[in-house]
Amino acid sequence: MTENINKDLLLKIQGLKTHFFTKRGVVKAVDGIDFSIRKGEIVGLVGESGSGKSITSLSIMRLVPKPAGEIVEGKILLDNENLLEKSAEEMRQIRGNRISMILQDPMVSLNQILRVEYQIGEVFRFHKKTNGSLREKCINVLKNVKVPSPELRIRDYPFQFSGGMCQRVVIGMGIANSPELLIADEPTTALDVTIQSQILQLMKRVQQETGAAILMITHDLATVAQICSRVMVMYAGRIVEKAPVHTFYKTPAHPYSTGLIKSVPVLGKKIGRLFSIEGQPPSLLNPPAGCCFASRCNMAKEICHSEYPPEITLDENANHRVSCWLHA
Ligand SMILES: Nc1ncnc2c1ncn2[C@@H]1O[C@H](COP(=O)(O)OP(=O)(O)O)[C@@H](O)[C@H]1O
Ligand SMILES: [Mg+2]
Repeated sequence: MTENINKDLLLKIQGLKTHFFTKRGVVKAVDGIDFSIRKGEIVGLVGESGSGKSITSLSIMRLVPKPAGEIVEGKILLDNENLLEKSAEEMRQIRGNRISMILQDPMVSLNQILRVEYQIGEVFRFHKKTNGSLREKCINVLKNVKVPSPELRIRDYPFQFSGGMCQRVVIGMGIANSPELLIADEPTTALDVTIQSQILQLMKRVQQETGAAILMITHDLATVAQICSRVMVMYAGRIVEKAPVHTFYKTPAHPYSTGLIKSVPVLGKKIGRLFSIEGQPPSLLNPPAGCCFASRCNMAKEICHSEYPPEITLDENANHRVSCWLHA
């Protein structure tokens, strides 16, 4: 059993801490997180703005903003190899090849003054995968992500594409070298609501066809419900709950998770006023002792304000874990 789990394991993060050393003090953007992703699964990382989601993904890519940002502790194991021990050159080979990243705004990901064909071609040229006709390969990239008339469109510039079509191009480039892991950081946030759902469906299909695992970063629980099989909730630089998606919606264990679920409007249900969690997330500069959510939690006990809770396993088989004193 254990062996099987290990064989399926793709990414394992252990005790990761990424801090920013600023003039005002140390910002603990990621402050001791652990999680794993199995081959081919879609895992959601959800949390309010500023909770450390993007810095988590940049840490995995070893692209933490310098000079202030630094990974200070932990391990990032990709297929059992610690990425934190790789050289800069080895990381360049891993990025865009074994791990790809898709960002929020496709208009920023693409260079507006270079033809799409040239930019897609770069992905192959950089990783020296240029056997066969490069033009054919570029057309195939667009075909894979269902851009209409790919033979004509590769001649176009990004500004001639709509936002949704641009994001398709970016996703196509992301999967061009068959990565094992795709990190998507709020990939639909910059798009119109109607397009968002199409892009999510595309990502789901991409996962099924390529077998890549996806780490889907979002502040939106609807996105999680639509395509993820597991979810991890991040709050103030820590992961406070991990669960299969159906378990998470049925029996959320952390008061913050409960609050997040309650604040999502339910289709077809008349609601007077949408629930929202009162208060603000704490500053990651000098965060309070104890659980960072305690000051906003109506179930907080004394210990919650003084000591950070251990991670409690609620269901080993389902991998449902929570860091909260209510369950300790
Ligand atoms: N370059 C930086 N310098 C200092 N602090 C930063 C920097 N980048 C991010 N942070 C801080 O790290 C925390 C987490 O940021 P981020 O990962 O971008 O949040 P999220 O993606 O969840 O919205 C925030 O408090 C943010 O202020
Ligand atoms: Mg972010």
